[in-house]
Amino acid sequence: MRKNLLLVALSAALLSACKGDATLSRDVKGYDDPLMRNEKKITGIIKQMTLEEKVAMLHGKHMFTSEGVPAQGIADMVYADGPFGIREEMEPHSWNSIHLKTDSATFFPTGSALAATWSEEMAYIYGTGMAREARLRGKDMILGPAINIQRIPTGGRTYEYLSEDPFLSSRLSVEYTKGVQDNGVAVCVKHFAINNQETNRGSVNAIVSPRAMREIYLPPFEATVVEGNAFGVMSAYNKINGYWCAENYQLLNQILRQDWGFKGMVISDWGGTHSTVGSVTAGLNVEMPNSNYLGQALLDSVKSGAVAESVIDERVREILRVRLAVEPVPEDKANKEMTAKPEQAKIAYEVAANSIVLLKNDGGLLPIDLNKVKTVAVIGDNADKIMATGGVGAGVKALYEITPIAGLRNRIGDKAKIVYAQGYTSQQARGGFGGFGRRGGAPAASAKPDDTAAKLQDEAVKAAKGADIVLFIGGDNRQHETEGSDRRSMDLPYNQENVLEAVAKVNPNVVFIAVAGAPVDLNRVQSCCSTIVQSWFNGTEGGNALADILLGKISPSGRLPFSYPIKLEDSPAYATGSFPQTDAPVNQDVFVSLVQEDSKAEELLKGATGRGTALYSEDILVGYRWFDTKQKPVMYPFGYGLGYSKVEYSGFAVSKSQFSDGEVISVSFTAGNSGKYDQLDVPQLYVHRVDSKVEWPYKELKAFRKIKVNAGASAFVTLDIPVESLKYWDEARHDWVLEPGKIELLLAHDAGNVAAKLEVAIR
Ligand code: BGC
Repeated sequence: MRKNLLLVALSAALLSACKGDATLSRDVKGYDDPLMRNEKKITGIIKQMTLEEKVAMLHGKHMFTSEGVPAQGIADMVYADGPFGIREEMEPHSWNSIHLKTDSATFFPTGSALAATWSEEMAYIYGTGMAREARLRGKDMILGPAINIQRIPTGGRTYEYLSEDPFLSSRLSVEYTKGVQDNGVAVCVKHFAINNQETNRGSVNAIVSPRAMREIYLPPFEATVVEGNAFGVMSAYNKINGYWCAENYQLLNQILRQDWGFKGMVISDWGGTHSTVGSVTAGLNVEMPNSNYLGQALLDSVKSGAVAESVIDERVREILRVRLAVEPVPEDKANKEMTAKPEQAKIAYEVAANSIVLLKNDGGLLPIDLNKVKTVAVIGDNADKIMATGGVGAGVKALYEITPIAGLRNRIGDKAKIVYAQGYTSQQARGGFGGFGRRGGAPAASAKPDDTAAKLQDEAVKAAKGADIVLFIGGDNRQHETEGSDRRSMDLPYNQENVLEAVAKVNPNVVFIAVAGAPVDLNRVQSCCSTIVQSWFNGTEGGNALADILLGKISPSGRLPFSYPIKLEDSPAYATGSFPQTDAPVNQDVFVSLVQEDSKAEELLKGATGRGTALYSEDILVGYRWFDTKQKPVMYPFGYGLGYSKVEYSGFAVSKSQFSDGEVISVSFTAGNSGKYDQLDVPQLYVHRVDSKVEWPYKELKAFRKIKVNAGASAFVTLDIPVESLKYWDEARHDWVLEPGKIELLLAHDAGNVAAKLEVAIR
């Protein structure tokens, strides 16, 4: 563990305590750790338990509960999907809804949208909102945040995860976790670890170097455990270097518990347990949702001496730590009132408003001036599409969702005429269970549109002809980007590019809005649109937030949490030939075995194991680290996003010129806004190694902050980099090592636009 990093955090927390900062108690793990308050009591509880009672705690009781200690009045653990809205109530042993009238929740913007805010404050309030709704529903643990690194742009869960960058993911995940846990609910950070693809996720063996693991894939988990004090972790479906995550001794016992000091509980992903002795000794606490391995088989294993009862006691203790740290919601209090509340809708709005990224604004179309624009043509299937559902585990039964067209109608009112044309349809892509029947995404643009397509296109062209501006709301959707499969390509689906081009021919004033959780191919869009916006699966209030951005009520401030490649083949896993894998056929998704109730289920699951090898050949060069180092141009760089006002930086300075281990590099500068709009801005600080003997990416993000600079004003900004965070994982020494030498501090607007540089020495 990077102990000094913790010390830096500790001294920062003590400093803030001296300044009277009330947040101290949630700043540092180990400071009155809620997980460690009840050790004596837990010893007493375990002493009174039978072996049967102990084993009963180590597997699923219902689809989303595991047993407490009923004889001693200790409640069951109640879990809830997912990362962005409390999932509806289901029958205890199936995925069927029980159609409650009170379980409609707030749909919060999905993971990449939250990450696009680049705001720790947004992540924290997001967590508070999730926790409040979880409490109303009697949940103890939220199955989120989902924080795997977005390794491939086509990942089925890229929209659910946060970023391609470990530092951005870490900062947001820590705050999300604090927000949840400060409000009486535990998180279950998932999926630990290296679950970076959906293709064969239930069987794939990820071959990753120790350095890439420590520097790229594990840091978000490390930070969430060490700084955020996450109470729960979910092991991933896949294998790492030959070992299933749910029985991976190195991952669960050595890295998580020993190196990071994790004191809480690990639950398996649903159907992701593969052994009895291996899992329980490697550190898995609960097999979810079944008892195939940690039920009777475990009982027998203890009785036969294959597993020591002391191991069971340890696993029970870890669960009880969480159980006693989270106050159970009495059964007669849960589900008594509507889950979704206006205060959460407000949070969902704030996050959405902070997340929308203005990619291109060359034609002066945005913000829309309603004094001049009298007819707005809104075109596209996504203008009117609900995004709360789909994506399997992460679907939300939302109380309501403001779609883009609804938001525009709300905000424009009678100030202009809105004409809507669907333009294209996404209907043809549905099929199979939650999209599982359809491997690899919907068909791309078809050269010969059929009758329906031609009719929809004609209507769109007609709507566009008479309008002052066209808002083309395309992208993909939650059937196209989904858990259980990866997209086959980044292509914009459903014939939309043909429609867009036809529309642009009759009206050049087209704003293309990509509603998507991941990068899409923008090549054809670029050649016909002067204005491009990246919106997201943006929650309950997404349409209102989008309308406020387009109309200039607020200036856009979202920044891309991932690089936008020009073409898929440029991105690292594709360029190195490590994805898609060709060594195994694409199998039925692991999840299917959980919903299939006949005897074929077990067969399917067996067939799904041990297939596919993902060689992480790009190693530490993930995302912008690859594009920078290989000097590959991108469509839009990581961290990119425009505003209606431009913020410039000046007076970049550093506290001193030489630093040693344990110190903090502190930089300062002035951010000035000479524009007309108050502007939220995200200065980013990257580090480039000048004379290193170790191989590094060209640069790495080490600090950022979302700041507000009012129109015509300026702000003094400081950013800190603990020297500890500059260490690399030395595979020979099996430890973090600080390399002395020169580094450049790059103050940037985004990964492709460095505003100022300074050189300092590390001793
Ligand atoms: C997903 C998890 C989810 C679980 C329960 C799994 O298939 O991978 O993220 O929490 O199902 O719904």
